[in-house]
Amino acid sequence: MSGIMGYVGHRAALPVLLEGLKRLEYRGYDSVGVGVIEAGALHIQKTIGTVQRLERQLRGLDLRSTVGIGHTRWATHGQPTLENAHPHASGRIAIVHNGIIANYLELRQELIAEGVRFASDTDSEVIAALIDRAYRGDLAAAVLAALPRLSGTYALGVICRDEPNVLLCARQAVPLVVGLGVREAFLASDVTPFAPYTQNCFFLDDGEVGILSGGGVQILDLRGQVVPKEIEHITWNPVLAEKGGYRFYMLKEIFETPQAVRETLRGRLLPGAPFVHWAERGPEADLLRTCRKVILLGCGSSYHAALIGKLYLEEIAGLATEVELGSEFRYRTPLVDRRTIVIGISQSGETADTLAGMRAARASGATIYALTNAPLSTAAREADGVLRLHAGPEISVASTKTFVAELAVLCMLALHAAHLRRRQPEAHLRELAAALGTAPAAIEAALAVEEEVEALARRYSRFDHYIVLGRGVHYPVALEAALKIKELSYVHAEGCAAGEVKQGLIALVDERVPVLVLAPQGRVYEKTLDNLEEVKARGARIVAIGTQGDVELRARAHDLLELPRLPELLSPLCSSPLVHLFAYHLALRRRRDVDHPRNLAKSVTVE
Ligand code: AGP
Repeated sequence: MSGIMGYVGHRAALPVLLEGLKRLEYRGYDSVGVGVIEAGALHIQKTIGTVQRLERQLRGLDLRSTVGIGHTRWATHGQPTLENAHPHASGRIAIVHNGIIANYLELRQELIAEGVRFASDTDSEVIAALIDRAYRGDLAAAVLAALPRLSGTYALGVICRDEPNVLLCARQAVPLVVGLGVREAFLASDVTPFAPYTQNCFFLDDGEVGILSGGGVQILDLRGQVVPKEIEHITWNPVLAEKGGYRFYMLKEIFETPQAVRETLRGRLLPGAPFVHWAERGPEADLLRTCRKVILLGCGSSYHAALIGKLYLEEIAGLATEVELGSEFRYRTPLVDRRTIVIGISQSGETADTLAGMRAARASGATIYALTNAPLSTAAREADGVLRLHAGPEISVASTKTFVAELAVLCMLALHAAHLRRRQPEAHLRELAAALGTAPAAIEAALAVEEEVEALARRYSRFDHYIVLGRGVHYPVALEAALKIKELSYVHAEGCAAGEVKQGLIALVDERVPVLVLAPQGRVYEKTLDNLEEVKARGARIVAIGTQGDVELRARAHDLLELPRLPELLSPLCSSPLVHLFAYHLALRRRRDVDHPRNLAKSVTVE
C-alpha cells in the first residue's frame, strides 16, 4: 500500500518527485524518501512522516540530478523507522518497492553469507542487493537477472549511480504506470503524480520491465523481449485533484458528492425503458436477463455499498444477491457458474482482497464485472465488463463521494435488470429512475446544514464510544458511519442493525455513549423509534437523522439532522454524505490529520 515514483528527463528530479509523492501520500505515509544521482554518487534522503517534513529536511541542498526515485511508505515488513524507509541502497543500486517479497529471508541469508551487510530489516533491501550483485555494467540486464529470484509481489523503481540517465521499473501484481513526456518519462503507483506533465501513459502488466530515459521508454518481458504497449490517455483534468481552497481533500470530496453522482448518472440514466445506457463495457443484457444470482464483493466502505446494492437488486430487480467480504470470499469454494455475475466493487480497483475474490470467482467460471472509479485499474482490466463511477479523483483516505456514486451505479444496475427481467411495472421503474435523477440536488440540500453538523460535532466530540443504529437500507449506512468515525477519530464506534441492539450491544449503553439513529420515514420507521426509546431509556444521548419536518422524531431525539424526502431505498444517497460530514467534523475537533489517518492508506493493495 505504499506509493512509488520515479523521474528521468530534462528537469531537476527532486521537485517533480516531491510534488508527485504528495499526490501519493493517500497510499501510506509512515515514512517518505527520495534518491537521486549527484556527481556520480547515490544521494538518499528520507524521514519518518510526511513529504512536508522531507521538504524541510531538503531545504538548502543543491541537488540538480535529472533522475531519481521516491517512496511514501505504509509499513508491511519492518517497523516504520528511518532505517526501514525507502529508498534502499546496496552498492551502486538504489530501489523503491511496493509489495511483499515472500522469500526475502532465504535471499537475505544467502546474501549475508556472501558478505552483504543490511541496514534494515525490510524485504525490499534484499532486492537492491540482488540487483547490485548481478550488475555487470548494464542496469537492465542486472534487473532481469535478479527478478526471477524473487517470489511475491512488487512494483519497483531502480536507479544506478553508474547510469545517471536511465530509470528501470518492474511490475508483479502491484500497480505501476509509466508516464510518457517530451524528453522525459515518469513512473508511479498511479497517474496522479505525473498528470500535470503528461496524460499519455503505459500501464505495466505482470512480468514487465520498463527502461525509461529522456529519449523514450522500452517495455520488456522477463526474457528481455520487447513488449509492444498501447499508449493510454488519462481522461480527467489533474487540476481536479487539487484541494481547491478546502482545508482537507475529504471536505472537498464530500461537497463534490452531488457532482460525482450527477456525472455518474450523466448520459446513462434514461427517463424511460431500458432506463440505463451503459456506454462502456457494461453488463451484457442477456446475462442480466437470465442470470441465476449476483455476488457483490467489496471491502470497507465498498462492502457497505454492496450491502445496499443487495437490497436494490433484490427489491427492484428480483435478483437473488449475495454479499461477500473480498478477504473471506477468496478462501471459500465459490458456488458459481457462467450464469452467475460477480461484481467486484472497488473505487480504486486495486484492493488486493477484492481482486483476489474476483479471480477466485473467475476461476470457478463466473462472469466478472468491476464497479470502479478507475477504468484503467487492475480490476477493470481483468473484468469481463466495467460499471464505471465518474466521481473524479478521490485523494482523501476516507472514501466519500465514490461511496455514494457506487450506490448510484448499483441502483442503475437494478433498474436495468428489473426492466430486462420484467420484474416491475414500467411506470414504477420510471418513477424510481426519476427520483434517482433528483439525488444530486437532494444531496446538495442535505449538505446545506454544515454549520449544524459542525455544532453537533463540537457537542459530541468529547465521547470515546459511539453506537450507530439503522434498519433495512439504513443499516449499511450505520456501518459506514461507524467506520468513518473509527478511521478518522481513532475512537470506538459500532454500527448495528437497530433490531439487534437488544441482543447484547445495549449492555454498553449509558450516558457516556451517544447513539446516532438513522430513522428516515419508511417501512422500518416505527420499529426504529422503538429501538431509539430502548437506548434512550438507558441514558444514551440520541442524535437522530430523519426526514425533513418529522416532528415526532424531533420530540424524541436530543439532536436531529434532517434529510430531504427521497424514496426510502434512495435515502442512503443523502444520509451517507451527512454521516461523512459528521465524522469529518468529529475528527477535526480531535485535531486529526483527516486526509492521512494513522495506520491507513487509500488503496489496500496488500492482502
Ligand atoms: C473507507 O473510508 C476506507 N478508506 C476503506 O474501508 C475503503 O473503503 C476500502 O479499502 C475499499 O477501498 P476500494 O473501494 O478502493 O476497494
